Amino acid sequence: MAGVANQNILLGVTGGIAAYKSVELARLLVKGGARVRVVMTEAACRFVSPLTFQAVTANPVRTQLFDEAHEAAMGHIELARWADQMIIAPASADFMARMAQGLADDLLSTLYLASTASVTVAPAMNRRMWRHPAVQHNLSLLEDRGIRILGPETGEQACGDTGIGRMSEPSEIFAALDVAAGSGLFAGRKVLITAGPTHEPFDPVRFIGNRSSGKMGFAVAQAFVREGAEVLLVSGPVQLATPAGVQRINVQTALQMREAVFDNIQAVDIFVACAAVADYRPESPRENKIKKTDDRLELNLLRNPDILAEVAALEKGPFTLGFAAETENLAENARAKLSKKKLDMLAANRVGDDLGFESDDNSLLVLWPNGEKQLPLQNKQQLAHALITLLEQQYRDAGRGD
Ligand code: C5P
Repeated sequence: MAGVANQNILLGVTGGIAAYKSVELARLLVKGGARVRVVMTEAACRFVSPLTFQAVTANPVRTQLFDEAHEAAMGHIELARWADQMIIAPASADFMARMAQGLADDLLSTLYLASTASVTVAPAMNRRMWRHPAVQHNLSLLEDRGIRILGPETGEQACGDTGIGRMSEPSEIFAALDVAAGSGLFAGRKVLITAGPTHEPFDPVRFIGNRSSGKMGFAVAQAFVREGAEVLLVSGPVQLATPAGVQRINVQTALQMREAVFDNIQAVDIFVACAAVADYRPESPRENKIKKTDDRLELNLLRNPDILAEVAALEKGPFTLGFAAETENLAENARAKLSKKKLDMLAANRVGDDLGFESDDNSLLVLWPNGEKQLPLQNKQQLAHALITLLEQQYRDAGRGD
């Protein structure tokens, strides 16, 4: 499918150090076949020269509302009409506030009001500014208006702080715009993914859990989004940022995860169970912290529902992909699990000896009822992409892709 190729993309650049990254975004868009026109605010021009964007896009860059020469060539209303998509990257706190209030005191804010194109905003600012109630209030106003917000991400900031506020990577923003333009193997498909561990409390401060980092499930979510799917990620407690374009519901326990899954499963085409769900939960969690007065402590555990098996048993349910972490007899146990849970596919990996859970690399044996394929050791992002490519073939073969 086409994606951004042949689309008219209006790239709005506002004042922030992340403006230099938008040069790369402009380059990716041009490389992807889009026609790109850049509009910069006055503050943006202090960080990057308009000439840089002009060289990358081969189009003049506009910076002023009252510019007779430019208005004579392509007036601002014409430019607003021209755009198929509008992306503001980086979007400063100030610019988001002006969008929220509907101000039209410069060219870019005027274009935002005059355009009917779909609008995506990639905020970038200091972490304290991002958390300020005024910014969060403006953010929700923009979201309520149907504007898509990408990021910001967590990490090092130009000001020396570490935290939330970095602009999403240009490749992520590009992928999101490409997807919005209808590209990808899973364009138009809805995918629900579970990821991470579950924590089963036995008193207010302690729980039974496991070592799942959630990295594989998050990588699978990102791979699906990049291939055009609408992704809902139900995540147990993990230390990971939500991939751009993914909708996320946070849960703690298996029962909460089950509820979040079944609240949403009806609308879903594909269900991927990546979570390491605790098989058992404490029968009666104590109300108060347990004191260490006795030498022995007995906990009664109850079996948790098997979310994946329940989804696979649904009549007219989604296509299902399960994961199996095994310490021994990988292929044998995995095939038994595939048929016992009546899954469409199962991805099995060996765990133990520091393999699998917290690592950035992994390998998978992928099984389906009449075949299998070994995906070699590689980083989890690459592996996730290889996995969903295999899934797409099976999904189509099962007659679900039509
Ligand atoms: O049976 P086992 O726990 O090895 O199966 C693993 C697969 O089943 C994974 O895909 C996991 O997400 C899913 N599962 C589940 N609910 C459970 C246990 C496992 O969805 N209670």
